[in-house]
Amino acid sequence: MTLLQESREGLKWSPIIFTTGGEGLVGSRFHKLISQEYAQVTSTDIDKIDITDGEAVNHWIEKYRPDVLINFSAMTDVRAIEKERGNLDGGAWRVNALGAENLAEACLTNKAFLIHISTDFVFPGYPAVPEAGLFAEDAEVAQSPDEVSWYGWTKREGERLVQEKMRRGGEYVIVRITRPIRAEFERDDFARNILKLYSEGRLYPMMNDMSASPTYIDELTEALKRLIQIRQPLFFSQPDQRILHVVSCDQMTIFDYSDSLIRKFTGKEPMIEGVMMKDFYEQHPNMYKLPKAGLLSDYTQKLLGMRFMSCREQIEELYRQREALGLIVSRDPVFVS
Ligand SMILES: NC(=O)c1ccc[n+]([C@@H]2O[C@H](COP(=O)([O-])OP(=O)(O)OC[C@H]3O[C@@H](n4cnc5c(N)ncnc54)[C@H](OP(=O)(O)O)[C@@H]3O)[C@@H](O)[C@H]2O)c1
Repeated sequence: MTLLQESREGLKWSPIIFTTGGEGLVGSRFHKLISQEYAQVTSTDIDKIDITDGEAVNHWIEKYRPDVLINFSAMTDVRAIEKERGNLDGGAWRVNALGAENLAEACLTNKAFLIHISTDFVFPGYPAVPEAGLFAEDAEVAQSPDEVSWYGWTKREGERLVQEKMRRGGEYVIVRITRPIRAEFERDDFARNILKLYSEGRLYPMMNDMSASPTYIDELTEALKRLIQIRQPLFFSQPDQRILHVVSCDQMTIFDYSDSLIRKFTGKEPMIEGVMMKDFYEQHPNMYKLPKAGLLSDYTQKLLGMRFMSCREQIEELYRQREALGLIVSRDPVFVS
C-alpha cells in the first residue's frame, strides 16, 4: 500500500478548505472542480479578505478555522509589476511577499495546512540554466533581484517568508506552477493567447531556445486534492521536500509548443517566426528576465503517485474540452474566444 493509499484509508477526513484569490485564473477553476467533491470549500477574494492586512487575516482564520488554506492570491501582471522594482511599499511586494507571510503566520497560529502557490519565475532568468538543464524542485532560486523580474523576486521572497515563519512547526507546502492553462476564462492564458494572436495575425516571433512546461489547471486541482489527503507532517520533513512542481511531464520550446498548438487548432501548417533569446534581448534590452529553462517534476509526480500530462497531451485535452464546450466553431478561423 502506498503512502497515499494509507493516508486515504486512514484519514477519510472532510476538511474545511479556504482559498484566497479564488476568483482568479487558477483559483476559480480549482474552485469549480473541487466544490463538486468537497462540501466545505469557501472561495475568497480581495473584497472579502485582503491578505496584506495581517490582523484581518488572522482574525478571519481564527473565526472560520479552516483545515486547509490555499493561497492563489497574487499580483501577476509581470510587465506592470516591473515598474515597481525595488519598491517595498508597492502592491506586488505587499501582496506576493508580505501577504504570503501574513497567511503563514495565521496558519501557524491556528494550525491550518497552508498550500502556497508559486511560480517558475523564482528561478534566475536568462541566461541562467541549471546544470541539469531544467529547474528541479530543490534547485537554487534567484539570490538577488537582479537575476529575475521584480514579480519573480516578490514571489521568491514570498516563498522565503512562508518557509521562515513555518520553521516554528507549521504545516505547509509550496506548489510551483508555470503558464497555467484552462479551456475557457474571461482572461487569456498562455495557450489561448497564442491562438488568439495567431488568429488575428499578430503573433510575435516565438522563442526557439526557451523551454516551457505548462500547468494544466485541472491536473493541478487533482494534485492539490491528493496533497490535502496526504497532509502528513513527517512526510515532508525537510524544507526542500515541501516544494513541489506541478507542470507538464516534459518540455517543449515555446516555438515548438506554439507550432503544435496552432497545428492542432487549425489543422494546417502554422506560419510562425522563431527568435533566439540572445537576439530577443538584444532587440529588447529593457525586457524583464524570463527563465530560459522549464521545470522538472519527477519528485512531485512520485510523491503524489501521478503522471502529469505531456505538453502534447495538454494540447489534445485543451482541444477536447473546448470542443465539448462548443468553443470550436470551425477550424478556420482558428479561434473563437
Ligand atoms: N498566471 C500565470 O501565468 C501564473 C504563472 C505561474 C504562477 N502563477 C501563480 O498562480 C497563482 C494564481 O495566479 P492567477 O493567474 O490565478 O492570478 P490572477 O488571475 O491574477 O488572480 C489572482 C487573484 O488574487 C487576488 N488578489 C490580489 N490582491 C489580493 C489581496 N491583497 N488580497 C486577496 N486577494 C488578492 C486577485 O483579486 P482581484 O482580481 O480582485 O485583484 C485575483 O482574484 C499566483 O500565485 C501566481 O503567482 C501564475
